[in-house]
Amino acid sequence: MAILHSNKKNDQHNFTNKENYDTPLFGTKEMDLTLPKKTLAQASISPQVAYRLIADELMDEGNARLNLATFCQTFMEPEAIQLMTESLEKNAIDKSEYPQTTELENRCVSIIADLWHVQAGENYQGTSTVGSSEACMLGGMAMKFRWRTLAQQRGLDINKQKPNLIISAGYQVCWEKFCVYWDIEMRTIPLSPTQLSLDIELAMAAVDEYTIGIVGILGITYTGKFDDIATLNERVTAYNKVHEHQLVIHIDGASGGLYTPFVDPELMWDFRLENVVSINTSGHKYGLVYPGVGWIIWRDEHYLPDELVFSVSYLGGDLPTMAINFSHSASHLIGQYYNFLRFGYNGYRAIHERTRDVAQYLAQAMAETGLFDIYNDATNIPIVCWRMKAETEKRWDLYDLADRLLIHGWQIPAYPLPANLEDIIIQRMVIRSDLSMDMAELLVRDIHQAMKELDKAHYLVSGSQIKHTKPSGFTH
Ligand SMILES: Cc1ncc(COP(=O)(O)O)c(C=O)c1O
Repeated sequence: MAILHSNKKNDQHNFTNKENYDTPLFGTKEMDLTLPKKTLAQASISPQVAYRLIADELMDEGNARLNLATFCQTFMEPEAIQLMTESLEKNAIDKSEYPQTTELENRCVSIIADLWHVQAGENYQGTSTVGSSEACMLGGMAMKFRWRTLAQQRGLDINKQKPNLIISAGYQVCWEKFCVYWDIEMRTIPLSPTQLSLDIELAMAAVDEYTIGIVGILGITYTGKFDDIATLNERVTAYNKVHEHQLVIHIDGASGGLYTPFVDPELMWDFRLENVVSINTSGHKYGLVYPGVGWIIWRDEHYLPDELVFSVSYLGGDLPTMAINFSHSASHLIGQYYNFLRFGYNGYRAIHERTRDVAQYLAQAMAETGLFDIYNDATNIPIVCWRMKAETEKRWDLYDLADRLLIHGWQIPAYPLPANLEDIIIQRMVIRSDLSMDMAELLVRDIHQAMKELDKAHYLVSGSQIKHTKPSGFTH
């Protein structure tokens, strides 16, 4: 086999540009070569050939729409894609060069703030981010800086111990990063088989003068469970009444933040609760935009310390900016505005309710097999997850089922629950807007087929025949 790349300048296998337009694509010399991996080839190649070679390399990653591991959107309308393609070159941070893009971002911030019930008389602040990870980092930093100023005013020795953040053990890794980067003690509240979201009693018991805030999660990554934020808020109000140290709550609404306002608008989790000071979400999850766009809103400027606000020139004036990332394409925030304009409230609700119907159908189909305990049946968010019933006498396990479904193109990962529950292996499907009921029916057919094949299998990767030394699969 020839290789396309060589360190020798005159290597005969370097591209030659000699073919002309009537050479069929798969008749070109380049199709006989492998691609450069470590250093550049000498010659250029045609755009058609370059496109084909790379597109073909990416083919074995499967079909993203059958990837039910990801929360990230895998479908947008052609008009949205066109708009996003046309604005790829715009730098979101160049506020003065692209003032209308800035205006669209500000409109998105206002629309989201309204969906999250910012209160009259408060001056909300917000920004787009690359995703929830950046938004969580900002929310955490704002809590830390605010805590430090107030603690100093109270005369607390802020160097005596590290500040701490309280969160359930079902946190997403971005919070661990936040705590490492900012030297914060992460006080994780354990989950248990009967308590799969934040245990509020334990969380409150972990609070001290050095607590910068508590994070409530609207959609725990592992299971989709919601923390009981209304009760948490009540307990924080009671704490604040008798302490000079005023506790605040940040909501990590990465997945629920742009789902719940449409499907369960009565649920109290947002700025209607007085101690919720900031909320983040991923526009690329149930905001229905391709990755990556995220959002964070503070209910009032009061909760966004000045140190985090920088000035960028805008139409001859100055505009505050608080995002961490500087240059990145504006196309995703333009895509977010497209969705808001195009779908409106009713459109989002229709899409999300239909997605929930499909997820509930799948949850029921899994329950009807009689083999699984359902951990989330998509009542709160379109996530379905299950474990194998303890009494099930199958030789295969959920890792085998995940492997088998891959043969049909479906990516439905199996993985252990977080600390304290690592012995429980679950399997999770994230249902998104582009999975129709018809596709769901095909999925159920494929699951039944996979289970039948596993029942007859002579070779199992993970079940009783060959034991895992270490669980394979998905990590969060
Ligand atoms: C609860 C939670 N927080 C934060 C994140 C990180 O979000 P992003 O991928 O948008 O950075 C996720 C991602 O799944 C999540 O589920």
